[in-house]
Amino acid sequence: MKPFVRPYLEEDQDAVYDVCVRTGAASSDARGLYRTDDLVPDIYAGAYLLIEPELAFVLDNGERAVGYIIGTADTRRFVRAYRDRWIPRMRERYVEPSPEADPVTEEDRKLAVMFSPESMLRPELAPYPAHLHINLLPDYQRRGFGRVLMTEFLAAAARHGAAAAYLAVYPSNTGARAFYASLDWHEVPSSEPDRFTYLAKATT
Ligand SMILES: CC(C)(COP(=O)(O)OP(=O)(O)OC[C@H]1O[C@@H](n2cnc3c(N)ncnc32)[C@H](O)[C@@H]1OP(=O)(O)O)[C@@H](O)C(=O)NCCC(=O)NCCS
Repeated sequence: MKPFVRPYLEEDQDAVYDVCVRTGAASSDARGLYRTDDLVPDIYAGAYLLIEPELAFVLDNGERAVGYIIGTADTRRFVRAYRDRWIPRMRERYVEPSPEADPVTEEDRKLAVMFSPESMLRPELAPYPAHLHINLLPDYQRRGFGRVLMTEFLAAAARHGAAAAYLAVYPSNTGARAFYASLDWHEVPSSEPDRFTYLAKATT
């Protein structure tokens, strides 16, 4: 069966987590890197599936979700919902780092990100209220599906009132950067140094 894009369903959650961890180390496999393989999806996927399921789409190969795009049309509202609804769940699974503690390991850094959703509210990103994450399993990359998922997401974000979107990409992720460049995403200059490069685009 030819893979197809459809809206996310609750039963896709495990598959989305699987895609996320297998592509979650700047597009490489993050399995085995941290105490639990749920760490990366708990930061970059779970809250979106819980809070913004109507902005989530999957690539279905007839058996399971093998790719996804998730995000929000309103980052400010999402951050509030993340704090109210997602962080309490995360406190049951992880130890929240003290704000004074300097992260030592990459896992420490990831936990700091998990517990500080407000770090998404960078002033230079305010003109781009939506944001997103997109990931496909390696066998489904470079076959045009990323482009289809992106079109679905941007149309949904526009329907939900967002005129523009941003995303964050590791500078080392050259494949993803080429993908975004081909879709006319432009770089947003950073207000302060960060490990990510930020890109933005109008939704219509
Ligand atoms: C990045 C990603 C979402 C792109 O989706 P995709 O389905 O592979 O991309 P498409 O096939 O729709 O590509 C559309 C165009 O983007 C460009 N492109 C995509 N991937 C590229 C790559 N690795 N190198 C160079 N150009 C690329 C090409 O111009 C391509 O058109 P073409 O195939 O006709 O030349 C996908 O490869 C992926 O999930 N990668 C791993 C996870 C990841 O890095 N996610 C992004 C984190 S910020």
